[in-house]
Amino acid sequence: MSESISLYYKNVTAEVLGTEHGITQQQFDELAEKTSPAITECNQQRKNGVIPYRDLPYNKDYPSSVKAVADEIKGSCENFVVLGIGGSALGNIALQTALNPYMYNMDENQRKGPRLFVFDNVDPMQFGSFLDWIGDKLDRTIFNVISKSGRTAETAAQFMVIRQLLLEKMGEDGFRKQVVATTDANAGTMRKIADDAKLRTLVVPDGVGGRFSVLSPVGLLSAAVCGIDIDALLAGAAQMDALCSKEDFFANPAAINAAINWHYYNRGKPISVMMPYSYALKDLSDWYRQLWAESLGKTNDLQGNQVFVGPTPVKALGTTDQHSQVQLYREGPNDKLFTFLQVKNLSQEVVIGKEPASAPELSYLSGQKMSRLLNSEKLATEYALLHDKRPCLTVLFDEISASTIGQFIYLFEVTTSIAGLLFDINAYDQPAVELGKEATFALMGRDRFEELAEKIKPVSEIDTAYLV
Ligand code: PA5
Repeated sequence: MSESISLYYKNVTAEVLGTEHGITQQQFDELAEKTSPAITECNQQRKNGVIPYRDLPYNKDYPSSVKAVADEIKGSCENFVVLGIGGSALGNIALQTALNPYMYNMDENQRKGPRLFVFDNVDPMQFGSFLDWIGDKLDRTIFNVISKSGRTAETAAQFMVIRQLLLEKMGEDGFRKQVVATTDANAGTMRKIADDAKLRTLVVPDGVGGRFSVLSPVGLLSAAVCGIDIDALLAGAAQMDALCSKEDFFANPAAINAAINWHYYNRGKPISVMMPYSYALKDLSDWYRQLWAESLGKTNDLQGNQVFVGPTPVKALGTTDQHSQVQLYREGPNDKLFTFLQVKNLSQEVVIGKEPASAPELSYLSGQKMSRLLNSEKLATEYALLHDKRPCLTVLFDEISASTIGQFIYLFEVTTSIAGLLFDINAYDQPAVELGKEATFALMGRDRFEELAEKIKPVSEIDTAYLV
């Protein structure tokens, strides 16, 4: 078996934390009883085709269509630009940060493909600066617009800027050559645009929501173009699928992870902090934050009762946030479950130099490996948190590779599905995002949103009585 990840959960047990904050064996047995039907249900939903994201690791068409496009692009492409937001961007960013070097964009010796830019915002200062830079490089730049619907204002706006630029500078043919659209196979605004302009397209699979789509062409194209081994990524996900499908609660890491999170949510710890001790893993916690928040934050349960549930995901980074958040984490309210991400073998090493003669107190660092310092700081922080009875999980990575990242993604996707069943909510919709989208339409003057624009006025107009 290749390198793997595993979930270490001793530091949530009563043995370590005592019975007030730790989970006793009896509680684990109760969690097993409660969660086992959710595992079965999740597996059944998969068989019934309700959650097609679970079969993405085995799909052959998606990676082969992605590789075909990647091969076409690679030779002539110096810059690859993703236009998308939410589930159409966070996975791309996470894969790139995890699997390519920190200086990838800056140093051509460190990269196996084009520079990658992912724009998941509509900030004219950010985008404007990029446009100033890209102006004379358009013919060596591929734009991958990713939107299932094509109606998302941010992505549509970015796309319309780029489309106009390409048409002006390179004409219809240039526009067609420089753009790849990843969108719904049949319906939606982006599908219409792509068909009309005869753009190259890749498919956002039916029934796979944005936040569950990173292992589809949504996340795979930028990864393949930038030299990431997408076959190993998918194989890693399949490897984790074997574990996450196990009906035995104690052998199923997704079930245990979901159950522990659910247990603590119901016992005064509704905040879930993910804290990687590896810069490469930092954007995976951003990806997780969306997955967890949009999937589990819901007003109604499946019977239509108002329940207002949802654990709050927080991202932190070790060691950086030791000097920002840990004071709160240790001495503030004991309302958080911590999930560390720790890597046994980091692929690069740095040895710390000799201490200055004037600072003999730094000699303990001299000649030490930086990886030892990083992992010692993780253990030190965990020790300190446990000292104050704060529950800690760790996802242990043998190493960071396409396979282990695929495993991690799949583990947290299935964890989210099982948690959704434990919370008894629909983990696959996001109705609350709609009102904000519609209010944006109204504020931007879209037809048929005039009534909503009127309703927004008390918010959009500043009441000077309250300005200080
Ligand atoms: O997870 C989700 O479903 C969302 O974050 C969407 O990905 C996001 O809103 C973008 O939607 P679309 O792909 O339609 O542009």
